[in-house]
Formats: sequence, structure tokens, C-alpha cells
Amino acid sequence: MPLLDLSLRPSLSPEPSPLSVDVRRGLAALLRERIGHDLTPARLEQVVPVFNDLFDRSGAASLPEFLSRLDAEPSDGPALQKLTTAATIKESYFFRDRSTMTALRERILPALIDRCRATRVLRIWSAGCSSGEELYSIAILLSELLPDMGRWSLFLTGTDVDGWSIRRARRAIYGHWSLRVADDEEKQRYFQYDRRLQCFRLQARFRSNVSFALHNLVDPHAETPAPGHFDLILCRNVLGYFDARSRQVALGQIRRALAPHGVWVAGASDPLPDSGFQTRIVGDVVAHELLPAELSDASEVSQHPLGCVGEAPETLPAPPHAAPEVSAPPPYSRERLVSGALAESAAFEAEPHAAALVAYDEACMLVEAGQFVNALAALERLHGVQPLWPEPYLLSARAFEALGDDQRAIEALHKVASLAPDRKEAWLRLGLLLSRSGQRAAAMDALRRVAAVDEHLGVEPKAQRLREQAARELSRLAGGSAP
Ligand SMILES: C[S@@+](CC[C@H](N)C(=O)[O-])C[C@H]1O[C@@H](n2cnc3c(N)ncnc32)[C@H](O)[C@@H]1O
Repeated sequence: MPLLDLSLRPSLSPEPSPLSVDVRRGLAALLRERIGHDLTPARLEQVVPVFNDLFDRSGAASLPEFLSRLDAEPSDGPALQKLTTAATIKESYFFRDRSTMTALRERILPALIDRCRATRVLRIWSAGCSSGEELYSIAILLSELLPDMGRWSLFLTGTDVDGWSIRRARRAIYGHWSLRVADDEEKQRYFQYDRRLQCFRLQARFRSNVSFALHNLVDPHAETPAPGHFDLILCRNVLGYFDARSRQVALGQIRRALAPHGVWVAGASDPLPDSGFQTRIVGDVVAHELLPAELSDASEVSQHPLGCVGEAPETLPAPPHAAPEVSAPPPYSRERLVSGALAESAAFEAEPHAAALVAYDEACMLVEAGQFVNALAALERLHGVQPLWPEPYLLSARAFEALGDDQRAIEALHKVASLAPDRKEAWLRLGLLLSRSGQRAAAMDALRRVAAVDEHLGVEPKAQRLREQAARELSRLAGGSAP
């Protein structure tokens, strides 16, 4: 089976690496400045190995020099994107906060639909959309609220600062974790199912009006998407991560993007804006609208051409005539939809790599969230369909190790080593685990392989670190004498 490209995935490399206090501070300051986050010490720990890895590959002479290079890189540059992926919390799932979904379905969306019925144009922005679950949930709600949906022009835009999330959103394939509050009927009605990997692909009809783009809410120079035109903005569970300055920049973006009558739905525990908005509680939902004083600004900018939003039209405001006549979809019928989903599932199964990547991504997220048992269940399925792919075994080893099951972690690492004998990390981890479990000779054998791989691959800084760690352990096992 072809090896899958994992270079864009979040790194889960566990090697601890000493960083001076100054460099650590510099890294935290860089991320605060660029993505607005005040990282917790635990989060910073997750970013450090990624930072080290980037440094090793950069050719920079020193860490401070590398930090200044990063400082000059744009937010969508490759190195900053990898750090962003490691630094951001991407937790999201379909129909998150049922009470919010109810308020949207029963009150907020019907009111906006009424208001926009004359033009039949509706624009919705999920700001900080993660992998798309929030925006697609709205697409599903709209499909049920608009029986004449084909006659509407819907622009559903999701943006996020993290490119990895945007790619996942565009793929629209999800694991169980993203559907944790969806019931069986919802899964059947809205998704196609890959039985082997137990992944769900959102049906095409919910994807057709949706686009995703990179956008940084805290970049004061970032263009506001479609200024003055969004009828609804969802910015939930995002602002709470920002420091005070960044929050003000993000609020400015939301303020500029809202249509005069628009509504911004926030998360229940999100910080409240201190000015510029009036806040209403709709059902259990915190909804903000522009204060009258803000309106002149918003309508002024509403003449501006569109900002960054991918597939939306080039100029706004709304077209003067109604959207072109497109025949309305036939009324909802459960049988028809289910059989449609089954018919399409053959095409889905013809894309095993996409489904495998999703399953792998989900397993990464589960490990990151400390859900080791769930991660192992997902990985077990993945091993069943992609038995020759080493990466998932490496992840299994991490999860077993975290659960204290060294024996099964060792088995998983043996698999990696046999499938990818050049993986130094696998040999090193295997050696350390074997050593811990008292299998001295096997441990020494595995640790020697770290150096052997180096000879074959040549020396780079990361390889050097791994080799030093292996040599230290070897020396300890050999009773102090160098092996
Ligand atoms: C916890 S998730 C929330 C996802 C979704 N809104 C929800 O409530 O389910 C936070 C998202 O905000 C994104 N984010 C963080 N900083 C951002 C920034 N400066 N600009 C845009 N998005 C950002 C993260 O990448 C992440 O995907």
C-alpha cells in the first residue's frame, strides 16, 4: 500500500527537548502575537517538539535566529502553520450544544429567513470553524428549514487560522468522536457510512453551498470576509482562548462582518463583548447584535468587495433580482434518503485513503484529548484495513504506553520497526520500553539500531538527539561502560 503523506498532520513526537527559558518565552510570545493565544504551560509543552523539529530542518544556526525567521514568516507560512496546528484546540462536533441548535432551528434562523425572503440570499460565517462540524450542522438545519432551498443563494463560509483543520473541513469525513451527540437516525439521514473504518461522510447535498478558507481573526491587517453582509455569524468557543488585545481585534472583525440586522451567536461560556453589541438571550443562547451606533459603519463598509471567502461571489451586495430558478428538491422522505446514501456509499468506499486519513486524524485527536481507550478502538479498525501502514501502530504504542500497558506498546512498536525499519523513534521507544520491562538484551539490540539507522541516513540534529538518548540508555544498561 502506498505510504500516506503525514507531513501535514500534527506531530505527536514525544521527545522531550531542553529549551532555554528565553527561547521558551520567545516561542510563547510569538504565538501570542500571531494567533492570539496565551498558551497554558501544558499546551506549550505540545508545541515544543514541533518547534524543535522545525528548527532541526531549518538550517538556522541557533534557536534565537530561527525565532526571528519565524517572526518574519506570514501566518499561512509552512512553519507557522505547523506551530498553529500544535497550539490550537480544535475540539468540535456536530450539533454541539443542543439547546443552541434548538434556538437556531426554532427562532434565530426562521427570523433571518423571513427577513431575507425577498432576496433569497443568506450568508453565514463560522469564524474559528475547526474541521467544519459547526458550519455543516447549520447547512443541515437550513436544508430542513428551507423546503425551497434550491431557489435560495446560500453562502456558508467557514474560516480558521489552522490550515490542517480547513483541509479536514473540506474533506467532510468524520469519525464517531465528531458525531458523539448525533443519534442513529441523524447519522443515517445525513451521512454515508464506511463500515470498515466506521467513518461518516457528510452527504453531498449539505456540502454544496459551503466553502472554507484560512483566516486569522486576530490579525489586525486581515481582510474582513464580506464586510457588512453576514446575516449570521457563529463564533463559538474561540474568543476564550485569546488575550485581551487579540479579543478586541477579533471583535472588530465580527462587528465589521455583520449585516446591520445580523446576529452573532456566541458560546455559552465565551467572554461577553464590553462594547459595540447588544446582547440577547434567545432560548439558552447568547446572541449579539450590532448596537445602533455601529450600524452606520457597517452599512458603509457593506459596499466593499468581498474579502477572503473562497467560493463566494466577487461583489456584493446581494443581487438585485431573485436567485435563478432551480427546481426545489423533492420533499424529505427518509426511505429515499437512506437508499440514496447507500447508493453513494460505493463511491465513498472507493476512496479508502481519504477514510483512512480521517480515521487516523481522529485517533490523533483522541490521543491528544487523553481518550486512549477510544483511540485504541479507532486504531484497531484502522490496522484492520491498512495493516501495512506503520504510523497508526506508532500511535497505538503511545496510547498503550499512556494506559500503562507496556507489553502491548512493545508489540505495536515491533510492528512499526518491521514495517519501517528506518524509523529511529520507533527503535528508541522500543529500546526504552524493553529496558523498562527488564528485557535488557532486546533493549540493547533495539537501541543499537538507532545508531545503525543514523549511519544509513546521515546525521541531522534530530537524529543526533535520538542517538544521544539511545547511547545514554545503552551505556546505563551496559553498567556504565560504553557498549
Ligand atoms: C475549540 S474550536 C471551536 C470550533 C467551533 N467553533 C465549535 O464551537 O465547535 C476553536 C477553533 O478556533 C480556531 N482559532 C484559534 N485561533 C484562531 C484565530 N486567531 N483565528 C481564527 N481561528 C482561530 C482554532 O484553530 C480552532 O479550530
